[in-house]
Amino acid sequence: MTIGIDSIAFSTSKYFLSLETLAKHRDVSYEKYCLGIGQTKMAVFPPNEDIVTIAIDAARKALSSIEDKNAVDLLIFATESSFDLSKSAGIYVHKFLGLREDCRAFDLKQACYSAAAALRLAESYAANNPRSKVLIVGSDVIKYPPSASGEPTQGGAAIAFVVSQNPRILEIEPYAGVHTDDIMDFWRPAHLDNALFDGKLSAYNYLKSLDICLERYFKNSALKLSDIDCACFHSPFGKMARKANNQSFKYKSLDKTLIYSSIIGNSCSASLFICFLSLLDHAKDDLTGKRIGFFSYGSGSVAEFFSGVVRKGYKRELRAEENQKMLADRIEISFSEYEKLYSGEFRDFDKYQNIGSVKLSKIDNYRRIYENIGG
Ligand code: HMG
Repeated sequence: MTIGIDSIAFSTSKYFLSLETLAKHRDVSYEKYCLGIGQTKMAVFPPNEDIVTIAIDAARKALSSIEDKNAVDLLIFATESSFDLSKSAGIYVHKFLGLREDCRAFDLKQACYSAAAALRLAESYAANNPRSKVLIVGSDVIKYPPSASGEPTQGGAAIAFVVSQNPRILEIEPYAGVHTDDIMDFWRPAHLDNALFDGKLSAYNYLKSLDICLERYFKNSALKLSDIDCACFHSPFGKMARKANNQSFKYKSLDKTLIYSSIIGNSCSASLFICFLSLLDHAKDDLTGKRIGFFSYGSGSVAEFFSGVVRKGYKRELRAEENQKMLADRIEISFSEYEKLYSGEFRDFDKYQNIGSVKLSKIDNYRRIYENIGG
């Protein structure tokens, strides 16, 4: 029995800030951002767009190649940027996708690890339910305090993928190396909009966790380093993934995994899978039969290394041109616009464009009202 990713798509904000602009206003050399950190642009979100609207956009695309939408009977929304401590963001996605009423929908949280966690859980579900399809959405928007060292790594995006038996894109292998440890490297108290963090500790623990996870993965799988053809890493910023790659693998394919994330910024739960999509969309060689390693790191912390084998015919399921066009068509904003949007106080829901077909149209007594654009 094979289980894995059957369909995959992503979405992000229609707007971005160039890090050249940010560097100028923060009096930092742009080389530090683009070479030292490895980022050139960051997604910035207008009031009409949030983790739900981009999740719906990504999920609509991922489901467009699924013949029977009614086979989706489990929806897991992975996020660490939820705006509600009770109601699941997944319920809005369930509604706008028109999924069946007896499809379970709920949120899952563990910093940037949550979508990988959802994937691992979905595998057991798919094994026990041969006709079921599980829709996983990872959607996050991340903000740091203005001028904080993390500011140039801000961003946001949503990934959506369908997990099922006989997957068309990637077969997930059963073994893994996992490491959980109580570390205070990144946290966001419920009342705060932006994350608090210890940047150096987080980078240190990311790399330490990678070593531990790899050791456990190789022990559990009886595979060796040379059995893995390329790897995708959680990418809070490009340099972090580069350090991870240099520490363990030295794959040339790394550059291809970072093309999307370097112009979106950190997308937390979505990041690892956007790196995977970036690799699939940009790889010149046929990846059929290649074993890909995946390293997920969620501050706090839980980390996991696992692997999957690319399926024959995967290219038919890609939408590289559409993805590249979506990013190329984004609109650049000025620094003053960025400051206005960052504050969250600007509430004109009609001024900005949406990337997809659903918008947040108002917030009424903390109730978020979404609507299809055009009625
Ligand atoms: P910093 O402290 O301002 O940067 O921020 P720095 O001084 O360490 O410099 C960064 C690099 O730029 C260095 O290179 C410098 O040499 C270089 P490195 O030594 O690292 O190779 N540099 C230059 N290069 C070229 N030209 C120049 C120049 N100047 C300096 N002129 C820091 C770095 C990571 C601390 C910051 O970005 C940060 O705090 N980020 C937020 C936390 C973070 O992303 N941590 C990553 C691991 S934790 C994680 O991945 C989880 C997370 O996604 C959250 C979750 O799980 O939910 C964050």
